[in-house]
Amino acid sequence: MNNEITAAAKALANGNLVAFPTETVYGLGADATDPEAVAKIYSTKGRPANHPLIVHVSSLEKAMEWASYQPEYLAKLASAFWPGPMTLILKRSNLAGDFVTGSQDTVGVRIPNHPIALELLAAFEAMGGMGVAAPSANRFGKVSPTTAEAVERELGAYIGDGDLILSGGQSEVGIESTIIDCTSDQPAILRLGAVTAAQVESVTSLKLKSDQGEIRVSGSLKSHYAPNAKLVLNQNPEPGDGLIALDSVATPAGVTRLAAPKDASEFARDLYAALRKADDLGLTRIVAVTPEGDGLAEAIADRLARASYRN
Ligand code: TXA
Ligand code: MG
Repeated sequence: MNNEITAAAKALANGNLVAFPTETVYGLGADATDPEAVAKIYSTKGRPANHPLIVHVSSLEKAMEWASYQPEYLAKLASAFWPGPMTLILKRSNLAGDFVTGSQDTVGVRIPNHPIALELLAAFEAMGGMGVAAPSANRFGKVSPTTAEAVERELGAYIGDGDLILSGGQSEVGIESTIIDCTSDQPAILRLGAVTAAQVESVTSLKLKSDQGEIRVSGSLKSHYAPNAKLVLNQNPEPGDGLIALDSVATPAGVTRLAAPKDASEFARDLYAALRKADDLGLTRIVAVTPEGDGLAEAIADRLARASYRN
C-alpha cells in the first residue's frame, strides 16, 4: 500500500478532509459517520446543509450496510455498473445520519471506478471506516473539478491544516455520476450521466419511472455547474467569445477555441476543463454548441443548460 494513500486514509479517520480523484469528477471526502468531519465539507464548499451527500465505498457488501431495503433490480444494477459512474439512492439504514442525508430517509451510495479512489476507500475501511461522504470538490454552484490542480484552485483557500488533496490525473468520464432512485420497485433517474436510461432499462428489464417526487438533488437546481463567464448555447460566436463544440464545427476568426471534442465521450471529459479555461483567460462570454443524441449527449446537454442558466 502506497504511503500517500495510507496517510490519506488516516487523515479521514482523524476527521480531516481528503479530496480524491474519481472517474467522474474529483470528490471532497470525509468520514461519513463523523458529524464534525462532514460539517467541514459543507463549510469548505459553502453548501447549504440540507443538500445530501453521496457515500463512497469500495464494495457492494459495504454499500449494503448503508441500506435498509434492496429492490430486486439493485443487484443487477450493481453488477453491471459498479465500480462506475452510478449513484444509487437507497432507503437508509441506521448508519446514515441526518447530517449526511440532509435529513431524508434515503442515502446515496457509489463505488467509484478509479484505482486511487478504490485504494483509499479500501484502506479507510481496513481501519474500521464505513464509507466516505463526498460531494464534487468545488464551491457550491460552481464547475466540478476534473483535475487535482482544479481542486487546488477551487478549494485551496478553504481547506484546513491536515486536509489533503490526492492527485490522480484527469477524470476519464468528466461529468458527475448518473443518480438512480432505488427506493421503490421501479427505478427512476434523478441525474443524467454516463450510465444511460437505455442501459438501466436493459439491465433491469424495467421501465424507468419519470416522476421524481419529493427527492432533493442539488444537481437538479436550474442553475448549477456555472463558470464566471456568461455561457450561451447554440448561438453564433463573435470575436472575443470562447467556443466549445464538436470538432466538426469550425472556429470563426477572433474566437478562442476552448474544446473541439470528436465525440460525446470526449465532450464530457473536456467540458469542465474548457469552462475553467474560459475563466482563466478572462473571457466574458462562452458559446457552446450542444451535442445531439441521447445517452451521454443528453447528460452533456443537461449540464450545459444548467451552467448557462441565469436568474
Ligand atoms: O460523480 C459523482 O457523483 C461525484 C463524485 C465525487 O462521486 N459526486 C457528486 O456529488 O457529484 P455532489 O454532492 O456534487 O452531487 C450529488 C448529488 C447532489 O445533487 C445531491 O443532492 C444528490 O446527489 N443526492 C445525494 N444523496 C441523495 C439522496 N439521499 N437523495 C437524493 N439525492 C441525493
Ligand atoms: Mg456537485
